[in-house]
Amino acid sequence: MRKNSMLFLALLFVSFQLAVAQTSSLVQPDVAIFYPKDFKAYKTLPSLAVTQDVSQEKPLPANWAVKPQFLQIEGKNAVQFTFPEHVDLYGTGEVLGDLRRNGTDVTLWNTDNYEYGKFEGKQLYQAHPWVLGVRKDGSSFGILADHSWRQQIVLDDKVTFISEGPSFRVLLIEKDSPQEVMKALGELTGTMAMPPLWALGYQQSRYSYYPDTSVKELADEFRARKIPADVIWMDIDYMDGFRVFTFDPEGFPDPKGLNDYLHDKDFKSVYMIDPGVKQDSLYSVYQQGTAGDHWVQTAGGKEFNGEVWPGQVAFPDYTQPRTQKWWASLYTDFMNLGIDGVWNDMNEPAVFDGPGGSMPDSNLHRGGGDLPMDKHLRYHNVYGLLMVRSSREGIMAVNPEKRPFVLSRANFLGGQRYAATWTGDNSATWDNLKMSIPMSINLSLSGQPFNGPDIGGFTKSPSPEVFANWIALGAYYPFSRNHTSNETEAQEPWAFGEEIEQVSRTAINRRYRLMPYLYTLFQEASQTGMPIMRPTFFADITDTSLRGEQQSFLLGEDLLITPQWAEDLKMPQGDWQEISLEENTDKYQASVKLRDGAIIPVGPVIQSTVDYSTSELTLFVNLDAEGKASGSLYDDAGEGYGYQSGDYAMLNFEANTVDGEVEVHIEQTEGSRTMNRKFKIALVQDGAVTYSEWQSGDTIRLN
Ligand code: NOJ
Repeated sequence: MRKNSMLFLALLFVSFQLAVAQTSSLVQPDVAIFYPKDFKAYKTLPSLAVTQDVSQEKPLPANWAVKPQFLQIEGKNAVQFTFPEHVDLYGTGEVLGDLRRNGTDVTLWNTDNYEYGKFEGKQLYQAHPWVLGVRKDGSSFGILADHSWRQQIVLDDKVTFISEGPSFRVLLIEKDSPQEVMKALGELTGTMAMPPLWALGYQQSRYSYYPDTSVKELADEFRARKIPADVIWMDIDYMDGFRVFTFDPEGFPDPKGLNDYLHDKDFKSVYMIDPGVKQDSLYSVYQQGTAGDHWVQTAGGKEFNGEVWPGQVAFPDYTQPRTQKWWASLYTDFMNLGIDGVWNDMNEPAVFDGPGGSMPDSNLHRGGGDLPMDKHLRYHNVYGLLMVRSSREGIMAVNPEKRPFVLSRANFLGGQRYAATWTGDNSATWDNLKMSIPMSINLSLSGQPFNGPDIGGFTKSPSPEVFANWIALGAYYPFSRNHTSNETEAQEPWAFGEEIEQVSRTAINRRYRLMPYLYTLFQEASQTGMPIMRPTFFADITDTSLRGEQQSFLLGEDLLITPQWAEDLKMPQGDWQEISLEENTDKYQASVKLRDGAIIPVGPVIQSTVDYSTSELTLFVNLDAEGKASGSLYDDAGEGYGYQSGDYAMLNFEANTVDGEVEVHIEQTEGSRTMNRKFKIALVQDGAVTYSEWQSGDTIRLN
């Protein structure tokens, strides 16, 4: 008997694979879609990742390279890809570990993962069912598993997606380069909208600045110490008993007054809003949510409650169109207090007393519109995406003339359309500092260009060394915010003494000098989906020795950023020249190198983006072997939507060497925004820099 049951169990658990037939078609010249034979659209569609119309049905070319095999693995719906040759794998979203994902696996199930300590860090706050593959010759493909259910991606000599949901379709992008694949992903899933310029500035946060007088002092301190900064963040303690959309009457009695104060000092304010609404019959948001039938339900059809910061809370069911509208409407009074941006946290959703730190898989989302009613297992990974979509709509409705800014901890593939992100609760360790680079790059290679970790680390207190190295690097993350927990020592740039305060100032000054270049990269990302932070191997996609390089990274195409602690660095070919963005330097500053053949526009040091101007630009030029270089500048009002009707300028820079003299031609190629600008050339050659005088006109000469 015992033997029999053992045999039965063994049979039950033995891994068996069963192939399932499929149909395929070409939806774009280089994009194919594959459906398993038992595909039922209502079980996984509409896609919340793919926004492009993929209904075209052209036959797949006979030589199409990467084809899926749909199969069953241990009774689960799966899809598998095999490759005739070695392929380097990237993407898979927010992940810990090496840049190159070969030999790893990840579980897509948005998880509040404090210190990345749970599930060996293989399950973090976001889910991106996406893999980028790069072949030896640089030709590349992208695999998108188009469904949101809990799933695993296993990357060994094959790529396998194993889902806990119904069978699902997959999209395949096939291109000559990884850059082209990223653009195609941007077309399929949409791109980040142009953020307000201030969101590119340095940002200061902690859990929590309290009360409002300490927020004001913090703002004063930055200005007095001449450390540039744009944003101060309000974490949960500004609320009244952690009730969202309320203010603590003692600590934050006058939020409008506080925001006015901050604005006077050229700061913006971002406030946290979590999804959980305190179960409190005297609290208007809870009353409204209950009266409007807005809550996620248990399998038995009752209001689901779980514990978060305020105690027991109810969770808005963002799959319901009326709940989305209601949630959006809550931002009206809130934003009218002069709040500039919103931070949506805990939206995996995190539930302290729930299974696996979230709500039961069997909970019910009632849907509506095009989203069918289904269980939490289907909607868990898109809960954060649906929340930020709704938040964003609310913010835009209040301030239709402004560009919204939302930061979200949880998200899903395609969620860059609604929110920027940070990488959750990291720690103040060397290891986490180093890991932040591959982590941010892989998020970038998964369609989310606007991301970065907590500079200095969230948990634990960094040693002065770790902080100095982190801020020196963090000045170059697309999202550059210093944030720490409520149990740690102070982590402001001046908290570690004068030397490190100066290190911080120098690093942040350099970020602000790069603002014209950075803003141009954000515009490119918003147009094409190209990442801002890129892997070093993008500099030369056929140099396979660069494929694993994860200590350095590219900012756009032209700058290579290398931390001081990098060892045995693999450098791309070419004459990369170090540029000095400020005379002040020290042993911590990351090295910034300019590609040969590139020109980048650089501005003056400013204290915040309120003072941003492109009227005087230094053009750093690194000539190629033919004595040429080129670059561009995107410029607009930094806020609002005038750029959509032509109020912007795209400038093209071309450097030539004529009779041994370097000259740069400047041409406005797009947009109707004009201004008289002065330029100065900074020619970098053989480790030295030669500056020209300030000049205006279409041609600037070195001498
Ligand atoms: C968790 C977030 O990850 C962290 O950044 C924040 O400070 C705390 N929640 C408190 O709101």
